[in-house]
Amino acid sequence: MSVDQQEFRGVMGHFATGVTVITTHDGSGALFGLTANAVSSVSLEPPLVLCCIDKGAESYAAIARSRVFTVNILGHQQEVLSRKFAKSGGDKFAGVGYRQGKTGAPILNDVLAHLECEVRYDFDTGDHTIFVGEPIDMSMDQETDPLLYFRGGYRNLRA
Ligand SMILES: Cc1cc2nc3c(=O)[nH]c(=O)nc-3n(C[C@H](O)[C@H](O)[C@H](O)COP(=O)(O)O)c2cc1C
Repeated sequence: MSVDQQEFRGVMGHFATGVTVITTHDGSGALFGLTANAVSSVSLEPPLVLCCIDKGAESYAAIARSRVFTVNILGHQQEVLSRKFAKSGGDKFAGVGYRQGKTGAPILNDVLAHLECEVRYDFDTGDHTIFVGEPIDMSMDQETDPLLYFRGGYRNLRA
């Protein structure tokens, strides 16, 4: 017997997380990105990081094709960016500052940290796929506070 889906969302919403935008491309120049908090460190040797991507998301097919993704960890001032990338459709990168890294996936301006990853493993799990990537380049800014997500709402360290 399975638990109620809404209650499951609510319970998991009690696990406070940071907020990322996972960016990628489809191998033919088109850029994709989605807001994601199902992101975790997996292994140190070798360094591996995972993200869980809804198979219905437009970004899913792009990651599956290009086999690259960049984890952009958002700062506390980037809630608007998070909301923008949490909707499907349109040109999400219009008006957004970014550069393309070694993998070709966008690195968004002013993020707290980023990891450019090449997919090493993928696991088909329910309605999501777990992509496990090995970072090939990364950066961090040790001054800025993070954007947080808790009980279905955006938070920061001081509120
Ligand atoms: C805080 C937050 C966290 C989210 N985390 C995930 C996630 O980990 N994986 C996922 O597939 N979608 C997640 N979503 C939903 C996607 O951002 C949303 O479905 C998006 O519209 C997908 O964009 P796309 O279809 O352009 O790829 C999250 C949304 C929010 C607001």
